[in-house]
Amino acid sequence: MPPKKKSAYAVPKLKDFSATALEKAAKDLLSALAAESKAVDSEAEWKIFRDRWMARANGLLTQINDTWLKAAPKDAKRDAGQCVNQLKAKVEDVVGATSDRILSQPHSEGRSLGRAKTRDSAFQSYTGAESPNNRIDITLPGIRRPLGAEHPVIKTMNEMVGVFRNLGYSVEEGPEIETDYYNFEALNFPPNHPARDTQDTLFIANQESKPLRERLLLRTHTSPVQIRTMEKMKPPVRVVCPGKVHRNDAPDATHSPIFHQIEGLAVDTNITFCDLKGTLDHAMKEMFGSSVKTRFYPSFFPFTEPSADVQISCIFCGGRGCRDGGPCRNCKASGWIELLGCGMVDPNVYGFVDYDAKKVSGFAFGMGVERIAILKYGVDDIQLFFNGDVRFLEQFG
Ligand code: PHE
Repeated sequence: MPPKKKSAYAVPKLKDFSATALEKAAKDLLSALAAESKAVDSEAEWKIFRDRWMARANGLLTQINDTWLKAAPKDAKRDAGQCVNQLKAKVEDVVGATSDRILSQPHSEGRSLGRAKTRDSAFQSYTGAESPNNRIDITLPGIRRPLGAEHPVIKTMNEMVGVFRNLGYSVEEGPEIETDYYNFEALNFPPNHPARDTQDTLFIANQESKPLRERLLLRTHTSPVQIRTMEKMKPPVRVVCPGKVHRNDAPDATHSPIFHQIEGLAVDTNITFCDLKGTLDHAMKEMFGSSVKTRFYPSFFPFTEPSADVQISCIFCGGRGCRDGGPCRNCKASGWIELLGCGMVDPNVYGFVDYDAKKVSGFAFGMGVERIAILKYGVDDIQLFFNGDVRFLEQFG
């Protein structure tokens, strides 16, 4: 054992307290520390090593404190203090690292018991110098587990669903892989009708042997959920259908082959276009603020007649069409932003779900969730929603 050797290191008394002399003394001490640490080969030896260097009573650290720091003349105190502090930290490190090395050695049964004991004693004496590396500082803050943030698309979807829930609508969901029948045919898109081209999508392969209406595809809108709902519920019906949809669109700043929709359906007796207008006007005001105006523009969807596109007054320029002395970029200076499609349910659709078109009437609407989120949060690229960049997403936490 090094301490028993004649040449064992002893803390020298210093006559010269200059920076160079301190440096030389520190260097000697550290090389002794390294050599002694290297020689330690068992837990018992480590304990002796630890006590020789760190024991409060007469350990080498206490000695350098007394002979180098306390004895230093006034003008050398600062340098000596710094030197002793650094040496203390270094000794603690090396003693801790030596313990780690001993404990991680392939061990016999006896050693593993020893290890458990060492850990135990570290717990019992955590404020002392027993095993500095194992000390627990109970004043340190705990480990903060980062909380996830709701994705802005889901957040927007939930907000919009909330608006309709408050109006008494319930929520319905359906499969993302749909049959041609639910996605197109029952919504009054006859086979080979050109309106299908506006919603091109991915078809599941190798289905040629099946009749067209049974072939599977990735749904292009959540309207099939309306058909599924009407199949299982009799009027009155008021539902919103949120969900993921797919289209054959190349990704760019405003398009994504995957996006989300919320569609709505209300069927009852005596439902009119006025009900549709009032409902959507209310929903847009809830979503974008009470000063927002809506305007309905003639449009076409196979499953609604008449059909309309809904525009809201531009939320960036307040509908004026100009902003900061120039044309408003967001509404292309028109003062209006197109946001959703809607219409009165085409009587043909009722034929597919066994509703009596002479007795009931209803309206439907559909909107893209990303488009609403883009407007609400001022996002300029739809791809940001799908890239998974935490720096973008955490802003919505
Ligand atoms: N399903 C239509 C679309 O995806 C939106 C829509 C829904 C239009 C309901 C009218 C009525 O484009």
